[in-house]
Amino acid sequence: MAIRDVLKMGDPRLLEPARPVEDFASLELAQLIVDMHDTMRALNGAGLAAPQIGVGLQVVIFEVSASPRYPDAESVPFTVLINPLLTPLSDAMEEGWEGCLSVPGMRGLVPRHAALRYQGFDAAGQPIDRSVSDFHARVVQHEVDHLRGILYPMRIRDLRDFGFTDTLFPGQNLQDD
Ligand code: NI
Repeated sequence: MAIRDVLKMGDPRLLEPARPVEDFASLELAQLIVDMHDTMRALNGAGLAAPQIGVGLQVVIFEVSASPRYPDAESVPFTVLINPLLTPLSDAMEEGWEGCLSVPGMRGLVPRHAALRYQGFDAAGQPIDRSVSDFHARVVQHEVDHLRGILYPMRIRDLRDFGFTDTLFPGQNLQDD
């Protein structure tokens, strides 16, 4: 339907908490999800949250395909997750490199829960309940942070672990989310 502009860090709309979706049958929600999907695909992203296109609703999407660029990452099926609730499954934290379509050209090392359960609803309002770990868990935490007004640089423990993608990882075409 439409590829939307992605807001960049510095825009105050990225710092606002998003509201829960109340009407799962609305045309506006269906159009939002199509626009988010088209925008994520056009930018080759791994995920996108509604606030990143200026819509303050609790809607995120993500998808990670098996790729030679991500030899260690399991693939994550395309998921629409609405009104998410995250529950860590242990105290274990893992550091990993993240990028974000709202922080283009940068990469930072971010601690995340290694395993978590996520609950919420899909685009049709049907419940989702998954327990995941590693990269899948990281992508979900990154996207759900967007719904709380948190961008990944705010979680970097040591800002020496923050820099330009083409300097940190020369020659690699990494996905953002
Ligand atoms: Ni992001």
